[in-house]
Amino acid sequence: MSTLESILKETRSFSPSDDFRQKAIVSGMESYNTLCEQANQDYEAFWANLARELITWHKPFSRVLDDSAAPFFKWFDDGELNVSYNCLDRHLAQHGHSTAIIFEADDGKVSHVSYSELHRRVCLFANGLKSLNIGKGDRVIIYMPMGVEAVVAMQACARIGAIHSVVFGGFSAGAVRDRIADTAARLVITANEGLRGGKSVPLKATVDEALTLEGCDTVEHVVVYQRTNGGAHWQEGRDIWWHKLIEGQSEQCEPEWMNAEDPLFILYTSGSTGKPKGIQHSCGGYLLGATNSFRWVFDYKPGDVYWCTADVGWITGHSYICYGPLANAATQVIFEGIPTYPDAARFWRMIEQHKVSIFYTAPTAIRSLIKLGADLPKEYDLSSLRLLGTVGEPINPEAWMWYYETVGGSRCPIVDTWWQTETGSIQIAPLPGAVATKPGSCTLPLPGVIADIVDESGAPVEPGSGGFLVIKKPFPSLVRTIWNDPERFKKTYFPEEFNGQYYLAGDSAHRDENGYVWIMGRVDDVLNVSGHRLGTMEIESALVANPLVAEAAVVGKPHDVKGEAVVAFVVLKGARPTGEAAKKMAAELKNWVAHEIGKIAQPDDIRFGENLPKTRSGKIMRRLLRSIAKGEAITQDTSTLENPQILDQLAEPL
Ligand code: WTA
Repeated sequence: MSTLESILKETRSFSPSDDFRQKAIVSGMESYNTLCEQANQDYEAFWANLARELITWHKPFSRVLDDSAAPFFKWFDDGELNVSYNCLDRHLAQHGHSTAIIFEADDGKVSHVSYSELHRRVCLFANGLKSLNIGKGDRVIIYMPMGVEAVVAMQACARIGAIHSVVFGGFSAGAVRDRIADTAARLVITANEGLRGGKSVPLKATVDEALTLEGCDTVEHVVVYQRTNGGAHWQEGRDIWWHKLIEGQSEQCEPEWMNAEDPLFILYTSGSTGKPKGIQHSCGGYLLGATNSFRWVFDYKPGDVYWCTADVGWITGHSYICYGPLANAATQVIFEGIPTYPDAARFWRMIEQHKVSIFYTAPTAIRSLIKLGADLPKEYDLSSLRLLGTVGEPINPEAWMWYYETVGGSRCPIVDTWWQTETGSIQIAPLPGAVATKPGSCTLPLPGVIADIVDESGAPVEPGSGGFLVIKKPFPSLVRTIWNDPERFKKTYFPEEFNGQYYLAGDSAHRDENGYVWIMGRVDDVLNVSGHRLGTMEIESALVANPLVAEAAVVGKPHDVKGEAVVAFVVLKGARPTGEAAKKMAAELKNWVAHEIGKIAQPDDIRFGENLPKTRSGKIMRRLLRSIAKGEAITQDTSTLENPQILDQLAEPL
């Protein structure tokens, strides 16, 4: 890990104001320490108490953690509940008229949905799904634009016990196909078109294309929400309009009572090798993680207006749009569009207009908005804000300071939240009324999270040195398994190197002298482009699937807005192209990747060589490729290379 030694030294520190601290749900370091102490003393009782306090159980649990089949842990496994009931029904008596969702469409049109209205819509749609014979355990693919209906679709699945798998609307037909095939889904829910930044996104057409591909014959129906007036190709018998499906349905739908360990959803995420992994989450443990962390980290209290800018296609949109906020009866903004349309002041205007008090976004969005108008926030009244958050990648201290001063008026704590698709909920972040923040650090683990940083042998590293981030005890919202691949689950997350005892996050990190955690990046071949996890292997496979490509290697290079950009080194089956021909070929391959995976995976930079730098045993020397991608001179020893002259070719810009 020596190459990962941190060079960052950040000494600034910001404590919450007295006022913030006094009003906070977890108020002051003493309260934080007490909670940690409780978790230390009786770990199971700590989680059991939270589970009883925060979740409404249909049948109470008597068992807490079952580790007899470790690492396939079970929590509360004789309890019964329904997640949608916890997000909706139980609030109706007290909060039926409260606003659940303030929806702002791409074109600026705003609509409000109360808890009772959301409940009504979820019941109607759930009954519609039942009329298609969808029920407990069936897999449903959701490929929707951001909006109220995406949440309704997810909640309706949860209500009837169907397992949803949301696919980000920016993914291509190939990615939709892979997820349908892996889950053997019976139903796809989509929209005719999405609308983002004034442009339409052809969602239904992409589903149509996916369904012509191999492995999709399990799909019986496609439900289509009519978002725009644009038409859609129609297959009679298979395709059904959303509005037709709910016609005449009852506004009441008895929830399906689920075992706490029944799967709630599967969400695919990139790994270093092979195809994306279907991360499977449970009903009980997941809901507890999302509900509790939302309350602690965002310090949500009645009267707050919360806004998370993530898409429901990612885990952040699951835990901190669809489930955590609703389980807490919160009022939230949901936004269909993009931060730069119609201009780079969109976020700031929306914060002013909706009086947002808690704002949660990604470092990549912050960096792009600094670039497009660092002074723009000053033109808007952002005084409603009291708390800011970030997620998805490390935030550089300059961007943190800008966010703190220019957006937060030096008044709002920033919660830098570290977590993953696999952890289901935030694991390391400052509790804002207790823990002082430092720009660039996600600070301290939440109470009940036993995180550590260890070396290859599993021993904790000294402060200041880098190591593997691990979580030493299973926690309720941890991934249960990889759908269809329990062996891979074991190998990836509970590897033998640590005796199968620790959850290995795949990130490197170090701690400072105050015990603060600083995330340094991934240790595997996963790129973090604009906060989206992309496996280099997936992009390589996509490139090699092109009939002209013989071999490809993909690495990341630092990018000042996206965090990382994709660089591809390609060997063609024919001669190595140069000049105009190389440029043309590169453009073609970029489009190819966009079509195979989605625009987010498109390489920024493509280089052609007659070969890739390989060791004599044929291993690609990725370290060298990373240096070339960054434009660095090669200082590493290249004597073990089979073909050192290839490096000059690959370094040649197009
Ligand atoms: C990275 C997103 C630094 C990390 C919720 C992790 C972060 C991966 C942070 C998970 C943060 C997420 N600081 N890095 N606050 N949050 N990451 O599954 O590398 O899309 O492993 O979940 O993003 O990405 P995922």
